[in-house]
Amino acid sequence: MSSVGTNIPHDSAVGHVSGGSVYIDDMAPLRGELIVDFVWSPVAHGRIRGIDFGDAASFGHLFTYRDLHHNLFGAIIQDEFLLAEDVVSFIGHPIVVIAAESRALIRKAKAAIKLDIEELEPVFTIDEAKRRRLFIGKTMTIKRGDVDAAFASARNIHEGTFINGGQDHFYLESQAALAVPGEFDQLTVHSSTQNPSEVQDVIAHLLGLPINKVTVVTKRMGGGFGGKECQATHPAAIAALVAHKLKRPARIAYSKDDDMCVTGGRHPFQNDYRVAFDDDGVITAAQIDFFSDGGAFADLSTSVLGRALTHADNAYYLPNALIRGTVCRTNLPPNTAFRGFGGPQGIATIENILEEIAVLLKLDPLEVRRRNCYGIDDRNITPYGQVVRNNHLPQLFDEIAERGEYSSRLAEVRQCNATSRTHLRGIACTAVKFGISFNTKFLNQANALVNVYLDGSVQVSTGATEMGQGVNTKIRQIVADEFGIDAERVLLMPTSTEKNNNTSATAASSGADLNGSAAADACRKIRARMAAVAAEYFERAGCGEASADDVVFENGEVFDRRKPDPRVAFAALVKMCHLERVSVGERGFYSTQGLDWDVDKGCGAPFLYFTQGVAISEVEIDRFTGMMRVRRCDLLMDIGKPINPGIDRGQITGAFIQGMGWLTNEELRRDAKGNVLSHSPTTYKIPNIQDVPPVFNVDWIDAENPLNIRSSKAVGEPPLVLAISVWMAVKNALSFLTNGEIPKLHAPATGEEILTRMTSYRHAQHGGDAREVAAPQL
Ligand code: MTE
Ligand code: HPA
Ligand code: MOS
Repeated sequence: MSSVGTNIPHDSAVGHVSGGSVYIDDMAPLRGELIVDFVWSPVAHGRIRGIDFGDAASFGHLFTYRDLHHNLFGAIIQDEFLLAEDVVSFIGHPIVVIAAESRALIRKAKAAIKLDIEELEPVFTIDEAKRRRLFIGKTMTIKRGDVDAAFASARNIHEGTFINGGQDHFYLESQAALAVPGEFDQLTVHSSTQNPSEVQDVIAHLLGLPINKVTVVTKRMGGGFGGKECQATHPAAIAALVAHKLKRPARIAYSKDDDMCVTGGRHPFQNDYRVAFDDDGVITAAQIDFFSDGGAFADLSTSVLGRALTHADNAYYLPNALIRGTVCRTNLPPNTAFRGFGGPQGIATIENILEEIAVLLKLDPLEVRRRNCYGIDDRNITPYGQVVRNNHLPQLFDEIAERGEYSSRLAEVRQCNATSRTHLRGIACTAVKFGISFNTKFLNQANALVNVYLDGSVQVSTGATEMGQGVNTKIRQIVADEFGIDAERVLLMPTSTEKNNNTSATAASSGADLNGSAAADACRKIRARMAAVAAEYFERAGCGEASADDVVFENGEVFDRRKPDPRVAFAALVKMCHLERVSVGERGFYSTQGLDWDVDKGCGAPFLYFTQGVAISEVEIDRFTGMMRVRRCDLLMDIGKPINPGIDRGQITGAFIQGMGWLTNEELRRDAKGNVLSHSPTTYKIPNIQDVPPVFNVDWIDAENPLNIRSSKAVGEPPLVLAISVWMAVKNALSFLTNGEIPKLHAPATGEEILTRMTSYRHAQHGGDAREVAAPQL
């Protein structure tokens, strides 16, 4: 029986619940190991006039940018100084690296160091950056049709601004690395990274070493969520600097609070839109200007912006579109990849537009969405020119309306809002169409190493990193399936740049797609050689002429399809191959075919396929406090044929709840100087078990995806976007208070945000009488 499609347990499941899983800071201390930390800028923008080290050197070893071979780096634009030179650009910018025998000594060294910094005026907002024209990279544009003409002849025009906040990754394992020096300037760095090859590259570059002297190993992360796609590099490079200079092992592990202060998160966006539509709510033109807060350095911001722009259509056909985007440079920690990678911000903007069109026209928002939804045979080309194939969105909308009992619940919500003095309800349906592939073509490749051992057990190494998402387990299933053996016989090895070179980050939800395909490629090459040996054996065994093409690998056995007797055990065939001096180890490679994307022109087909879904969410708000509860969520997706349905269910559930956190409770607050106030779980509220909707139906349709390995679809990020339905349900609830006006609502819709909005509508309704209580007129 094939293990693909079954729920074998996650390969770390037992380790995670028993404490057996090893993270960087769980690794036993090495002889001579030093603890590493750094002094960072306490001001958001300033010029370093001087550093008084006092007697800090008596407590530990100190390093500054002068100790680096290069200091400047960056994944796309090389604008980032690992250690500040004369200018500091955000609170948290590392200045002095300290390596010491104990944390106590590090604290003493830190206390001894006095920074003399002349404060410069910081920029904290998108508006301010726009005013001062502080941007990162170029403005990007996607354009189709004649937007001006469409607006000139429009029946209705509406405009507004969509604003969303950032989000902290809140992985449970903070950024961490352990660098171990080897012979002749070689280094082995254990890094909690999604991107071992980039960590390797950057360390080599900053230390002036050839790349082959640096090996980066990643066993697992305690969560990454995009936060370790680029920003695991900093701690790894800092530890590597110490190990390289002192020839002693060096370990760094950020505290939770430090991590929340110094690393970037999801990009806040502020998007101006103008939309033209007919009286049925069908969009005829849309113009959207995206502005993201990139923070102090480029990081992945331009690429994140690109994904926002290519998701500004989401599930909806925009016949005429002008979509532009610009990254603003501010004095905040550089923002970076975060589950969805700009897609959620793009999608939230258009979903908000559709909701507002429905309010203006007094139409049902779900009906407006259906009318604008991409068609199957026509109205199926995105603004950037990619045809939307295998479009299941119309079917998904129909099915979710049914399964989510949309009409009857909408009526209930109306009824409830008309009668309840204490509570206000809202309901909304939103969709996701998420493009799968890195939006940078060359990243869509992977290699794998498969070694089969004499007892028939198998080791697999790929560039994929395990961060909890289950990529190891999926690849294990694919490899087991290729060899027709039990998944128990297959082991995924720690990711290492020694075994897999020049790999892409495990990101863009495509870890299993790319690395699973590369592993399958290696398996097929091995299997072909094994089949030839098997065919010879069957011939010798007197079965007549046998052909390798007819050899089948199934249930741990190998046989000729035409004459299933005799059979040989997989392990026995491996031994046979070895005696015949036939190799049972192989490297595989995969690159996604058919991609074509011109980022400068904003056109092409950047994605191999789209993962799709819809959700209906219902919320209830306390009219007196603004406190919001999610009553019920129904999710329906097209994720192809899951390789491991249990893991995919976990991904959908987790992503949705993480998206809910972004859009409801998680609010980053800073003081006027830019210090993060929400730097721990006491002040930054991620969803907990009580926030999970009491009714939470997660399902997917039966659909094929012949474009991808085993007909599966990427699932890691897309469902996060469905949480927009929760935010939209809040907006829907507020629309019961506004007398047909569009309710204003920013994301996140925290209790405070909701209460403020409700209060303003009440005042508007009641002539600003502050004594008026929350209850509506019955
Ligand atoms: N799931 C868990 N448990 N932990 C994570 O850090 N990261 C998400 C998603 N699911 C993440 C996760 C992100 S941002 C991405 S891009 C994908 O997993 C990456 O893995 P994949 O490509 O193997 O799906
Ligand atoms: N997703 C995640 N990471 C990336 C991407 C993407 O689309 N493009 C480049 N890095
Ligand atoms: Mo995920 S944001 O692509 O790491």
